[in-house]
Formats: sequence, C-alpha cells, structure tokens
Amino acid sequence: MLVKIESVLSEEEVAHSRSVLEGTTWIDGRVTAGAQSALAKHNLQVPEDAPQARALGEVVLRALGRSLAFNSAAVPFRVFPPLFNRYDVGMKFGAHVDNAIRFIAGPNIRVRTDLSATLFLTDPADYDGGELVIEDTYGEQSVKFAAGDMVLYPASSLHRVEAITRGSRWASFFWIQSMVKDDGARGLLYQLDQSITKTRAELGDTHEAVLGLTAVYHNLLRRWAEV
Ligand code: NI
Repeated sequence: MLVKIESVLSEEEVAHSRSVLEGTTWIDGRVTAGAQSALAKHNLQVPEDAPQARALGEVVLRALGRSLAFNSAAVPFRVFPPLFNRYDVGMKFGAHVDNAIRFIAGPNIRVRTDLSATLFLTDPADYDGGELVIEDTYGEQSVKFAAGDMVLYPASSLHRVEAITRGSRWASFFWIQSMVKDDGARGLLYQLDQSITKTRAELGDTHEAVLGLTAVYHNLLRRWAEV
C-alpha cells in the first residue's frame, strides 16, 4: 500500500530545513547504498553523522510524532534517523530494493525496513524529472508531491528516481520498522481506522457501532503487533 501523508512539515519547517541544508556539505550518496544499488545510485547526501542532519532529523521525527495519519498508516516501532539527499540535473537512482536491515551506529540498534518514506523538501514547480516511481501490485505509481508532503510505501517494492532535467530535488528519506510487519495486515488496520474515524464523525464516539469497531481495531492490533 502506498500512502500519501500531507503537510508532515509546515511551510516554516520546510523553509528552515532548506536553509540549514543550504549551509551543509553534500557527499556522494553511494555511502549508504548496498554494493548492488550503489551501481544505480547517482545523487548527493548529507553525511549521516553531520550535526545539521541530526538536528533536522529531530525536526522530522517530532513532526512524525504529531501526525495521526503517519501513526495510523505505519504503526511505527522504530524510525531510522532521517537522512537528506538531493538530485541535481542529470542525477537519478535506477531501479532497486532497499536493504532489509539497517544499523543505527550510536545506540547499536537494528531496524527492519518494513516501510520506506520520502519527505519532499522542494516545490514540484522548481524542478523537472525526479519522480519517485514505485512498482506496486497495481503497476507503477509515479510520485512527486508538494514540499512538506510525504510518501510511505512498502520497502519491499522495486523503486527508482527519474533523472532531473531542471532544478534540484531535495528530500528527507528514511525507513520504518512497523509493529505490524505484514503489509497486508497493516493496510487493513489503516483502512479500518479510516472507516472508524468517518463512522465516529457520523454517529458520535459513544455509539454502539463505533465502540464495536474500535474494539475490533484494537483486538486485531493486539493479535498482530510485535513490540
Ligand atoms: Ni531506495
């Protein structure tokens, strides 16, 4: 399931992120790629341990914490510290699958990458090309969202970033280990949660049907969640 989450970052947070990134150093993006995907990867990244990356990563993590849509769609257990990349004219990332396990050096923690996330930091009017193309069970989906918006997709999907033909595309990217590993189960919980929200709005929080559906949601989560 591919989920769009709008306005994860406010306009002010996007502007702040961009001004911090303008003053940082960028290195070859192949540092975080596996041997195979390194062959396909042509972009620039802020070093993982750069203070700017860590400070902006905290901004992103706080924004994720307050996003009901993110928490409903991802049911997050761990989030990999957000990274930042850019694609200038001619840069691209050919088709690849992200590594299944990522290691966070400081706390010595492994993250199973159930979900991949791209949080856009450049207005689509400011660049051409640069679409994130994700192979879904329904075919290819091409994603290019407003600055501040984010896409969540199964990390198991083959995906690529098309070459930039004008401007520069900046983004934050990271992975999430979900409490619900299975993409199908997680998708059902997300749909159920959305239906409960609509039903609550129609019938009110204390209606018997709302209470019943909420119980089903939590009991499915209890059955499927690993914590
Ligand atoms: Ni990738």
